[in-house]
Amino acid sequence: MSLFATKPLARIMAESEGGSHTLKRTLGSMQLVALGIGAIIGAGLFSLTGVAAANHAGPGVVLSFILAAVGCAFAGLCYSEFATMIPIAGSAYTYSYATMGELLAWIIGWDLVLEYAVGAATVSVSWSAYVVSFLKDFGITFPAQFAASPWVEVVLADGSKGHGIINIPAVFVVCMISLLLMIGIQESARVNAVIVVIKVAVVLVFIAVGWSYIDPKNYEPFVPQNTGEFGAFGYSGVVRAAGVIFFAYIGFDAVSTAAQEAKNPQRDMPIGIIGSLAVCTVLYVLFAHVLTGMVNYQDFKGAAAPVALAIDKTPYLWLNKMVKLAIIAGFTSVILVMLLGQSRVFFSMSRDGLLPKVFSDIHPTWLTPYRSNMLFMVFVSMFSAFAPIEVVGEMTSIGTLFAFVLVCGGVIVMRKSYPNINRPFKTPLVPVVPILGILINVALMFGLGWTNWLRLFVWLAIGLAIYFGYSRSHSKLRLNPVKK
Ligand code: ALA
Repeated sequence: MSLFATKPLARIMAESEGGSHTLKRTLGSMQLVALGIGAIIGAGLFSLTGVAAANHAGPGVVLSFILAAVGCAFAGLCYSEFATMIPIAGSAYTYSYATMGELLAWIIGWDLVLEYAVGAATVSVSWSAYVVSFLKDFGITFPAQFAASPWVEVVLADGSKGHGIINIPAVFVVCMISLLLMIGIQESARVNAVIVVIKVAVVLVFIAVGWSYIDPKNYEPFVPQNTGEFGAFGYSGVVRAAGVIFFAYIGFDAVSTAAQEAKNPQRDMPIGIIGSLAVCTVLYVLFAHVLTGMVNYQDFKGAAAPVALAIDKTPYLWLNKMVKLAIIAGFTSVILVMLLGQSRVFFSMSRDGLLPKVFSDIHPTWLTPYRSNMLFMVFVSMFSAFAPIEVVGEMTSIGTLFAFVLVCGGVIVMRKSYPNINRPFKTPLVPVVPILGILINVALMFGLGWTNWLRLFVWLAIGLAIYFGYSRSHSKLRLNPVKK
């Protein structure tokens, strides 16, 4: 059987129904929107907006947020078509299996580990840093060597320099969230909803309070003149900044991994995906507008906490602590949705035989893939505790963009191979929208530089070794081929 054998849609749908390997359909449209916002608003907004303004776009970073949102929206529309047509847990992996064949499906499933598991580990390390700093604001000192991996240099309690031993807070948050995910999707969704309310409230308070401290002079020039180098201000700077702040949008696609747990996926998937993206775009644009209006973009250069600079211009210094709290809350839900997505993608890959069965074992009462959650708890914790996390951080962005490109391409292929199938949601203007989605996302991938490409290739090479060593010979499609 060819490496590019696709899995027929009817078979995908039939296999998702019934049996002991079934997830529970309980999520409504609002919970899906909340799930999206939960994954989207994290550190990206608070830490990258200032950096992107200072180095690339000035107040024009607002345009960068709009540009990145357009790229995401094109991908989001393609995700929506698939998520309603194939409402199965595997997201981009399942879509590729139906359109571009088993090998590409495997590659994309493996690639999603970068977005979800590695992404969750990266975020847990930042979570740890913020929690340690937040505790310090209240006079509680957490020993530095127990909040960093051995790759990180730390200042010890006696003032001497040393290295980290283990990042305990990062492991703690990964374990807590994994346990929550094991217990149930409803419980996880509830915790997520509370967190989303906290972080959206802080963003809104910042916008409302900051608005009256905007100095219109800070908007001149709106897009500072290019310095002669590509990406350093001018319109090329706006594009470069869009690549930088793209990270802030990552997460809306994770909604699609919950398709098998949505009550009414045909209606609610597009609402969840596009709705969460739309809400965050509006918040991001307003936030960037206020931030660059309060502080001159040049002052953000080298600033460790750009938002704090803006808050310092107001009499409301307590807002600084609230922003930290929002960041911690934001990180928590980002980790939650990423770990959720990860276990659901491996769930689908395991059901197809490409991974061992343990990843799709469902708990008899919790109805979650608890063993998969448990294995990822261990894997992600090890990463959080001991890995050189900066190195792998940017791999999250490149891995995600790669998935977006394949999903956009998949929509075009699917329209050709299954022209008449019921599509509850249709991506408008095919092939224009998917092609633009591919072009924008490939452009952003190039912006990430060759070292990340190299890492992506190494990661995919490891994946291919597993595919040819295990998955190919265990594939259910291969063991039980489709009769033509
Ligand atoms: N979008 C998420 C963040 O900004 C990943 O943290």
